[in-house]
Amino acid sequence: MTNNQKTTIIIFGASGDLTWRKLIPALYNLYIKERLPKEFNIIGTSRSHLSDAVFRKKMNQGLELFSPSTLTANAWKTFSQQLHYIPGDLKVLDDYKKLDAYTKVLEGSNADRIYYLAVSPAFYEIAVTNLGKAGMVNQKFGKRNIVIEKPFGHNLESSRKLNKVVHSVFDENQVYRIDHYLGKETAQNILFFRFANTIFEPVWNRNYVDNIQITVAEKVDVGHRAGYYDTSGVLRDMFQNHLLQLFSLVAMEPPSSFQADALRNEKVKVLSAVRPIVSHDTIIGQYEGYCQAPGVTPDSKTPTFAALKMYVDNWRWQGVPFYLRSGKALAKKVSEIVIEFKSPPHLMFDLKEGAHITPNMISICIQPDEGIHLKFETKVPDSYQESRSVEMEFHYRSSFGSHKLPDAYERLLLDAMNGDAALFARSDEIELAWSLIDPVIAYSSSPSAPPLSHYESGTWGPPEAQQLMSRDGKLWHRGCEHEN
Ligand code: BG6
Repeated sequence: MTNNQKTTIIIFGASGDLTWRKLIPALYNLYIKERLPKEFNIIGTSRSHLSDAVFRKKMNQGLELFSPSTLTANAWKTFSQQLHYIPGDLKVLDDYKKLDAYTKVLEGSNADRIYYLAVSPAFYEIAVTNLGKAGMVNQKFGKRNIVIEKPFGHNLESSRKLNKVVHSVFDENQVYRIDHYLGKETAQNILFFRFANTIFEPVWNRNYVDNIQITVAEKVDVGHRAGYYDTSGVLRDMFQNHLLQLFSLVAMEPPSSFQADALRNEKVKVLSAVRPIVSHDTIIGQYEGYCQAPGVTPDSKTPTFAALKMYVDNWRWQGVPFYLRSGKALAKKVSEIVIEFKSPPHLMFDLKEGAHITPNMISICIQPDEGIHLKFETKVPDSYQESRSVEMEFHYRSSFGSHKLPDAYERLLLDAMNGDAALFARSDEIELAWSLIDPVIAYSSSPSAPPLSHYESGTWGPPEAQQLMSRDGKLWHRGCEHEN
């Protein structure tokens, strides 16, 4: 699975949360699955002064907490030998030169490198610029790729500026912009479900689909992330990236191959066909008590919930509404996509008064109970003409055993090492996504916008989110739960 070229992974921001929670556990799990190159080094760097031993200990604690089932003393012993740490300040050019010299000694000879920016976005530009100035992007002794975490920019303008800085140092094919939703097994499976089968694609269009709903709901509230979240809000934090990525996978045309550009061209095409989202189709809300959370501005207007209706102006989707919603402090953690089909054109059955036929639905359950459900009507046994909807379900746990699905970062780190950018966002994709979300942020925060509606924690958001559906005669579905 790996190209087996000697590789160094340099993590900037190594004392931060992402490194011990996600990156090192993912690298460790790749190691025990023998998917890392035979020769590799992982170098952590950040401003904290840590010895290799202290860094290794902290990373070991990360595994104990976040991947205990795969941690064994023997594997850790050998893996951790490849973990190193060197302090450095992102703003100081000299520190990059020291890092480069240190890395060269460890590498000994030619090696590919991945620079992973697990730092605050405020440092992306300076880090990229300094990597360039320190001569660390020269590919004479191996490939030099960079992985950049989200958020990529704060709006269209800043993302364009950041892309410009990045492109002044790296070529686009060296840049891996992470959206961890693309690394989730179930998100990748959307492509297999649609394009490795023949029976779904013929009905995947405006002739059969009534509407598509994408829900990414979280039970957790802002927690300790207020410093970042209060300047971001749900539209930047979730819609510009994760929700629009899921939307692209569901709505795009079939790519001709799984090559990065073939796939990303189709995502760009469908994003460019999205009609500008109007204020009437935008609902935003904030959970009660948000402003009292530590670190939040007391009169903050930052939305913690949003629901949007979108249309795609192309041949396949003309007239089909896409409803997207996401928020914090909601009733439960669930990410799912529901494709609701049209009702049969004519009903020959003599249903009882008040009885109705439920439209067919395909629900793609991204998490937590990963799988796919298909809802359809059946005759109730021993009834005259009574119909009831039932479900056919596929669950990963029953079809593939009970192992936990791999964390998204495993696949993404491996792809970045292999130079496969298919599951990463390209610069034009990022900019298109911002160009859709920026106007929504602008009018929902303008003085003439309706006041922010509040919702109680543990609910499904403000009542207006229900009205967004009911005014179209529709309902939000929770297709991955049993509704009947
Ligand atoms: C992150 C957001 O990108 O995704 C967080 O910044 C959010 O606010 C998280 O909690 C959700 O990811 P997941 O994988 O838990 O659904």
